Amino acid sequence: MANVSFWLLLAFIYVTLPWKYNVAEGKLSSESGCRLFYRVADCSHLQLLSVPQNLPTDIQELLLDFNQITILHKNSFLRYHDLTSLSMQSNQMEFVEPGAFNGIRRLEVLSLQNNTINMKYELTSAALRLTTSLKKLDLSRNMLTMDMVPELLQNLTTLENLFLDTNIIMRLDQTVFEGLVYLKELSLRWNYIYEIECGTFEGLVKLKKLDLAYNLLPCIDDYRLTQIQMLNLSFNNLEWFQSQETDTEFHLEMLDISNNQLLFFPLLPRQHHLHTLLLSNNRMRFYGDIFGTNSSTADYLIVEDNITSVTTVDLWSDDIHSNLSALHYLDMSHNQFAYFPHGFFSNMSSLSYLKLNWNCLQAFHVSPSDITSLVDELDLSNNELVELQAENISPGILSLSYFNLSNNNLCNLPRNIFSSMTRIHTIDLSNNPLHLCSQSELRMGEGKCIDIRNVPSLRRLYLSGCGMELNLHRVFYGNTLTHLDLSYNSIKGITFLDDTARMLQSLFLRGCLAFNITVDFSAFMSLTVLDISENALTTFPASLNGLALHYLDLRNNKLISLPLYNTRLLGSLKTLYISENPFECCELGWKNVLISSISIPDLQKVTCNFSNRYLPVRDLPASINHSCQWKNGGPWLYLLLTLPVCLTLLVALLLLFLTFKQTLLQTVKRRCRRSTSY
Ligand SMILES: *[C@@H]1O[C@H](CO)[C@@H](O)[C@H](O)[C@H]1NC(C)=O
Ligand SMILES: *[C@@H]1O[C@H](CO)[C@@H](O)[C@H](O)[C@H]1NC(C)=O
Ligand SMILES: *[C@@H]1O[C@H](CO)[C@@H](O)[C@H](O)[C@H]1NC(C)=O
Ligand SMILES: *[C@@H]1O[C@H](CO)[C@@H](O)[C@H](O)[C@H]1NC(C)=O
Ligand SMILES: *[C@@H]1O[C@H](CO)[C@@H](O)[C@H](O)[C@H]1NC(C)=O
Ligand SMILES: *[C@@H]1O[C@H](CO)[C@@H](O)[C@H](O)[C@H]1NC(C)=O
Ligand SMILES: *[C@@H]1O[C@H](CO)[C@@H](O)[C@H](O)[C@H]1NC(C)=O
Ligand SMILES: *[C@@H]1O[C@H](CO)[C@@H](O)[C@H](O)[C@H]1NC(C)=O
Ligand SMILES: *[C@@H]1O[C@H](CO)[C@@H](O)[C@H](O)[C@H]1NC(C)=O
Ligand SMILES: *[C@@H]1O[C@H](CO)[C@@H](O)[C@H](O)[C@H]1NC(C)=O
Ligand SMILES: *[C@@H]1O[C@H](CO)[C@@H](O)[C@H](O)[C@H]1NC(C)=O
Repeated sequence: MANVSFWLLLAFIYVTLPWKYNVAEGKLSSESGCRLFYRVADCSHLQLLSVPQNLPTDIQELLLDFNQITILHKNSFLRYHDLTSLSMQSNQMEFVEPGAFNGIRRLEVLSLQNNTINMKYELTSAALRLTTSLKKLDLSRNMLTMDMVPELLQNLTTLENLFLDTNIIMRLDQTVFEGLVYLKELSLRWNYIYEIECGTFEGLVKLKKLDLAYNLLPCIDDYRLTQIQMLNLSFNNLEWFQSQETDTEFHLEMLDISNNQLLFFPLLPRQHHLHTLLLSNNRMRFYGDIFGTNSSTADYLIVEDNITSVTTVDLWSDDIHSNLSALHYLDMSHNQFAYFPHGFFSNMSSLSYLKLNWNCLQAFHVSPSDITSLVDELDLSNNELVELQAENISPGILSLSYFNLSNNNLCNLPRNIFSSMTRIHTIDLSNNPLHLCSQSELRMGEGKCIDIRNVPSLRRLYLSGCGMELNLHRVFYGNTLTHLDLSYNSIKGITFLDDTARMLQSLFLRGCLAFNITVDFSAFMSLTVLDISENALTTFPASLNGLALHYLDLRNNKLISLPLYNTRLLGSLKTLYISENPFECCELGWKNVLISSISIPDLQKVTCNFSNRYLPVRDLPASINHSCQWKNGGPWLYLLLTLPVCLTLLVALLLLFLTFKQTLLQTVKRRCRRSTSY
């Protein structure tokens, strides 16, 4: 109600103007179709050929995106003195006439994204020069080259944010951004920049954020931009990154060099404020194990204007001279690290997130002296780990909450490792050749096995594809798991889950139950997600009917029917997968009940077996229905069906016999006649 009166009030204010108040849409719209909200006019997608002149004169923001304005003529905005923000994206605009912005007192934000201002950029440049307060300018997607940019930016000294993404800029030199002393943010993504001349960004003393992602830069020598806080160099061809060797303070906080060709850990500034360092998808490793300490230096030339200098860098040395004590997030996944030099992580005293997945590690140390005990999430999945080392660990010493060790070669873990993690929440040990300790192994205190009992904080445990035989009791004793994945192991009954059954919410038992197993799920009171696909179940486990599952996956079993009538399960189930089962075509009574109340995403693929022919359940031919009725009709129907056929056959045989008999008689007669001629 309050809303409506607000709009009525607005309508009243503009009553002298040609505005319509559309009750149904709750919006004001002009004759040209623009939508007005407070002091914002949205005229996007209206196929306009020029700037509408019938909008309220006090608008502050005007959106003209996706129209067909090819030229912004002089005095187009004369009426709109208060305009501060103008967006003209995607108009196929060729140029802006000098004087187009006449009348606007303070234009601060201008977007000309996705036009063709490269055609007559000198004119547009002259027009831009007359805006004296421009703070944010977007010239992305305009086919601009390196020669056009300095011209367009000339005298735009008030700029704070500049976007030049998706153009065809190949080089940058000192002249390009000259005089932009207030520039804070510069984005040059998706260009073809392969060279940046020294001094290009030095004059931009306020620059905080520089985005050079998706270019062709081959290396960064002598990085010296002390003012920048956020530098994005992802998706280039960088083979190395080297900072100036000085003790000057760099303000760098976030550095993204992911998706490049880096061969070495970057040579970072000595003093910086890095909290996020992204280095994934490169070719980095340490070389100390190959080259020893003898050949640890490499000389290389820096050609800077006309001065050539030689810098010697310890490329093969494993020492990191940079102070990484403020680093919070480090991503080195998808590289080629086979080891880390001793103490590499121990100086990163603020590290919380460490991603080392997809490397070539064979061993890793999690002792408090090796990685800081503050690490919260550690991902070591997809390595070649055969060993995880942990010395001097005591209960609670590690504060890990997420630990991913999946896809490795681990068959053993230090016995007390999980009890040293009192905050651990998620452990992924999938696809390792390991097994859980049996009672006797625990009693002996020996053996290559994993003990995951008594980890009270643990909620999510992943153990799929470990090749385990699970028939032991109490392997999860003392845990309150809510999520458990035991897929692709071999399970002989599920009594070993008794300890954790009551709390479990999601259970994955894909491909691990034998066909003749009788599984009783009635103890799993909290279960909402169950996956028992890829087993060989011939009958639907009746105990499921008493559960309140939301999600059930029964794909790829040997079920003939789904006896789901009036059960608790039917009321709670939201998603059900049932394809790849040999359902009996003549016993599909359950089908309509399920389809009407439950989402079956794979229904298209569900087939049924009609005398070893597999037919789509969704559009079962009506003839099958009839055949089933005959089939189910019993011996009388068979008799009725076969009687006329039998009778016809009998008559036919009789006739045949009679015909045959006649010819036979005739031949005999003929023979007799012949014999009398002797
Ligand atoms: C660019 O503008 C054209 C029309 O001029 C439009 O068809 C296209 O979708 C726009 N592209 C983007 C990425 O906005
Ligand atoms: C624009 O900048 C040039 C120097 O780059 C200067 O000579 C000229 O006076 C400036 N023009 C205006 C209008 O500020
Ligand atoms: C760097 O740019 C890439 C590509 O645009 C983007 O995916 C990534 O999130 C950016 N990095 C940061 C730290 O913002
Ligand atoms: C280094 O070189 C010296 C002589 O060239 C050799 O004696 C020494 O064993 C080498 N050290 C290593 C670690 O390779
Ligand atoms: C180097 O270039 C500068 C101009 O960039 C010039 O003044 C100077 O004389 C040159 N020095 C040499 C040694 O050529
Ligand atoms: C590393 O930097 C931190 C501040 O970020 C400082 O407290 C610490 O003393 C530095 N360590 C060394 C070895 O310079
Ligand atoms: C860790 O920092 C100490 C000084 O705090 C330094 O002596 C040691 O070399 C550093 N270790 C590494 C691997 O950088
Ligand atoms: C562990 O890592 C693997 C592979 O990197 C990933 O597929 C899996 O989802 C991760 N596990 C968890 C629990 O996040
Ligand atoms: C299940 O079948 C396996 C062989 O497939 C057999 O060894 C086992 O005794 C059977 N178990 C039951 C309970 O029938
Ligand atoms: C399909 O149905 C026929 C009888 O109509 C039966 O003999 C056969 O075993 C069934 N196939 C499967 C895979 O259950
Ligand atoms: C099949 O026959 C049954 C019983 O006569 C009938 O209820 C059902 O609607 C029929 N289904 C189709 C697809 O004809």
